[in-house]
Amino acid sequence: MVNAGHGGYQHSLHPLASLRQNCGNPTVPTMSYITAPERFETSEFVLRCYLPGDGPALQDATNHSYEHLKTFMPWACDDQTSEEAEQLVRQFRGRWLLSQDFVVALFSRDESQLLGGGGFHLREGSLATKSAEIGMWIRASSAGQGVGTSFLNALIEWGFTAWPWERLSWRCDSRNLASIRIAEKAGMQAEGVLRSHKFAPSGERRDTSCFAILRDSKR
Ligand SMILES: CC(C)(COP(=O)(O)OP(=O)(O)OC[C@H]1O[C@@H](n2cnc3c(N)ncnc32)[C@H](O)[C@@H]1OP(=O)(O)O)[C@@H](O)C(=O)NCCC(=O)NCCS
Repeated sequence: MVNAGHGGYQHSLHPLASLRQNCGNPTVPTMSYITAPERFETSEFVLRCYLPGDGPALQDATNHSYEHLKTFMPWACDDQTSEEAEQLVRQFRGRWLLSQDFVVALFSRDESQLLGGGGFHLREGSLATKSAEIGMWIRASSAGQGVGTSFLNALIEWGFTAWPWERLSWRCDSRNLASIRIAEKAGMQAEGVLRSHKFAPSGERRDTSCFAILRDSKR
């Protein structure tokens, strides 16, 4: 099953964990649950959580983008069924409501077409760190037209205005020049390269380029 945009969340927090007090160390913030924002609109797009019923839109976007996605997206395939996609969007919705992972759908203004996907993923630590990693893919028919750049800018703007994030990071295969370029254009700062960090979908080892932007200074 494809898991487009699935952040591989690392936290299985009990929903009531947020009600616990941090008795141990009052200087370390505790936050395990947020009432997450639902949507963000720009003049071009709607960014929102996937909802039940979005499965066919996800299936259409990813199946028709397989060649475009397969080099860097390990989940890419061209034979996802609409039932599988529907299961996924419902999982995304559930994780969003539980503050476990925030997979964002990028829709056209009239929400008739899914242009891509992304998210705020808790890969840097728990919610309490107020740090998230942004992930992204753009459907093949919309790629190379500035959509990824606008989507990343929108995620950063939304992330630093409506969300608790104080640090937003971006990691990509060092050979993914389009991904590196849009991070640079969004004002993210290069933080280094993790050498031989992961396996690419091809099975080759690959380096990871790291970028981030901070809320306070937008640096
Ligand atoms: C990477 C991706 C999100 C970028 O989105 P996009 O809509 O295609 O990007 P944009 O059109 O906004 O901008 C791409 C930029 O990269 C540049 N670029 C593209 N391919 C390039 C290459 N091979 N070498 C150098 N620059 C390249 C473009 O020229 C453009 O920069 P410019 O505006 O300065 O000319 C999209 O192509 C995608 O979905 N790729 C497959 C999945 C993926 O790699 N996701 C990222 C994982 S971190």
